[in-house]
Amino acid sequence: MGYLAILSDQRIILCNPHNPVGRVWSREELTKMGQICMENDVLVISDEAHMDIVHKGSTHTPFASISESFADNSITCTAPSKTFNLAGVQMANNIIPNKELRNSFTNMIDRLYLGLSNTFGVTTVENAYRYGGEWFDQFLDYLEGNLIFLTEFIETNLKEIKVIPPEGTYLVWLDCRGLGMDAKDLEDFLQKKAKIAFDEGYTFGEGGEGFTRVNIACPRHILEEGLRRIEKAVNESLIRVGRKTQ
Ligand SMILES: Cc1ncc(COP(=O)(O)O)c(C=O)c1O
Repeated sequence: MGYLAILSDQRIILCNPHNPVGRVWSREELTKMGQICMENDVLVISDEAHMDIVHKGSTHTPFASISESFADNSITCTAPSKTFNLAGVQMANNIIPNKELRNSFTNMIDRLYLGLSNTFGVTTVENAYRYGGEWFDQFLDYLEGNLIFLTEFIETNLKEIKVIPPEGTYLVWLDCRGLGMDAKDLEDFLQKKAKIAFDEGYTFGEGGEGFTRVNIACPRHILEEGLRRIEKAVNESLIRVGRKTQ
């Protein structure tokens, strides 16, 4: 079945962990999805760029690790860009166990000259993977602290906004529907009143309206500054519309 999927042009892109909502799909969920794909000859392209950034209580399951047939019916994409903040080196890994699929992928990369990486990039990535473990552990601890800080700040000071607790990624999906603004008004409000530029939920597609995505992989004082600006702008706006007194 998987073989037919490779020949067919039916593909699904799986995002695990999921950006923007921060889901880390469970083994059971992935198994069910993988079986449906096998039965319908759909190749799975598994984008696991955020695989290392998983919060306490969750475990990342690489799609291809579930079974040999899933591995054979998939392309797994990983990268050092999220784990080590190395997007600038423009390097990524594509893991393709199926030989025929790998050959056709490599041919395409060669034809388009996409495999021309630069020497600094190769060395940087090699050293990050080889020696970056301790740095990464410290980063993950700091990130957990930022997540706790953000969650407590919003629960205490911004009751109109709800944090969707992420299982993975350094991105947090905030439900701002309690502010009672439509998607464009929310964007305007955050940019012009709070002076914050987030990736607005509506840009991720239908269902994203009223949500916004915050990147918490930054120094805590910057996160605090951003949250205080939102708090101030929200309070001013609630006072203006009479939902809050001074
Ligand atoms: C899920 C996901 N895949 C891929 C990418 C792109 O990663 P890279 O910077 O390695 O091109 C991103 C970047 O935001 C991402 O969130």
